[in-house]
Amino acid sequence: MPKKAKSAKRTLKNKNGESLRILISRARLQKRITEIAREIRKDFPGEPLHLVGVLKGAVFFLTDLGKQIPGEVSFDFIAVSSYGAETHTSGQVRLTRDLDSSIEGKTVIVVEDILDTGMTLQYLLRVFEQRKPKRIRIAVLLDKPERRIAPVHADYVGFTIPNEFVVGYGLDYAERYRNMPDVGVLSLGTSAKSS
Ligand code: IMP
Ligand code: MG
Repeated sequence: MPKKAKSAKRTLKNKNGESLRILISRARLQKRITEIAREIRKDFPGEPLHLVGVLKGAVFFLTDLGKQIPGEVSFDFIAVSSYGAETHTSGQVRLTRDLDSSIEGKTVIVVEDILDTGMTLQYLLRVFEQRKPKRIRIAVLLDKPERRIAPVHADYVGFTIPNEFVVGYGLDYAERYRNMPDVGVLSLGTSAKSS
């Protein structure tokens, strides 16, 4: 069962007027990722697993998850871009970097940072299904079910979160904050909000 992200009290403000409230600590992230890794291996015992990470947000999740799954595991990466404003997706998705190798006949686990409207994963599933994998499963670190437009179901969910913009642990705001080891809720200052 995905964990509910409960809010912590600590809020940090930076010079741009943005403030950050830690939502999921690094310790909770690691604990939950270990649980998901066990669950995945239990579902496919003894089977080679091919993890496909969606760049760039899923990089830390994929590397931490991959280290915790015993047995044969391979990695590949794909990149997509969605047009639109920075804190929401417009729904139009475009492939910007394809996989290195074929997924035909493989058990593919798509590893994504966050499932929001679902447009990105819906697009990727369409692309991957045409390539005849043995099966496809989806692992997302975070799920924001309130914003769902496309009916995408994730098989493995780290944490269900409320409809707030989060950064850290791979997730960015205009390419910033990805390197934060925890996941936090970002509130923009009044100057940034008007743009
Ligand atoms: P979807 O296509 O709306 O499901 O959005 C998926 C993508 O939007 C994710 O891979 C993220 O890159 C981005 N995204 C959605 N919500 C957030 C957020 O709260 N913080 C940072 N990026 C987000
Ligand atoms: Mg992303």
